[in-house]
Amino acid sequence: MSADAVSLLNPTLRADACANAPVGIFDSGLGGLSMLRAVRAVLPRERLIYVADSLYAPYGEKDDDFIVDRTVAICGWLAAQGAKALVVACNTATAQSIARVRELHAIPLVGVEPGVKPAATISRSRVVGVLATQVTLRSARFQTLLDRHASDCHFLCQPGHGLVQAVERCDTSSSQLMALLESYLAPMLDAGADTLVLGCTHYPFLDRAIRDIAGERLQIVDTSVAIARQLERLLEAGGLQNDASPDPAAMPRFCSTADGGPQRQLAASLLQLDTPVEHVVIPSPHERSGT
Ligand code: DGL
Repeated sequence: MSADAVSLLNPTLRADACANAPVGIFDSGLGGLSMLRAVRAVLPRERLIYVADSLYAPYGEKDDDFIVDRTVAICGWLAAQGAKALVVACNTATAQSIARVRELHAIPLVGVEPGVKPAATISRSRVVGVLATQVTLRSARFQTLLDRHASDCHFLCQPGHGLVQAVERCDTSSSQLMALLESYLAPMLDAGADTLVLGCTHYPFLDRAIRDIAGERLQIVDTSVAIARQLERLLEAGGLQNDASPDPAAMPRFCSTADGGPQRQLAASLLQLDTPVEHVVIPSPHERSGT
């Protein structure tokens, strides 16, 4: 009898098997590691597979169809690895593709979006800076989010051109990066912003650089812990939490569509997770069908 036939006869076995399955997390590149850090903190028992689509990063300057194709391909790959839940740890991919992924996969799915709502709640000056990719800022999903909160708060939206590329190179503090970041933050500070939304999962790795430029003048809104808690609620609701004791030595399975060197370096230096990165080939749907 196949394992599936056994699990149909014995639903408890199936639930246990699923609970022990990994959570799949993906980003265009290394930014989603900031989300992985939060997931590990909130859900230390969960096994994790992380895919960085670094071969195609940055997504933030690509066209919408390309981003949908890559998101569908990678979520499909993670589901085929047995993932019991998916985290699209990329604001850009969420903005363009989350609805499509929901149609394709009947497992818990969490996306990320810029923390406009929490920023509107905490800003005293009512001027909020939003740093995100060009694609996120121009997406209908983001515009709807903004419209909901723009009546009593002024949002200054700035595309963070060049910032994803810097983090992909593991550059979080060079003088060129600091100058670029300052050129984005100074106009926000001059306009009276007291809050900054990090609308891209790469940007939490720039928090120290942002502090060095803005000091305590900006409250930084990073939604990674809130998203990890949302994942926790979904796993709980589906009876999918892994109850095994956390193994402090357990490492996530790290995968990359490009050279994994920078991923290993960033994870080791900023997350204290030093583990090899597997190279994976994940064709887009149109490549598989030969169109
Ligand atoms: N981390 C991705 C995000 O949150 C970066 C997108 C990109 O590759 O430009 O949007």
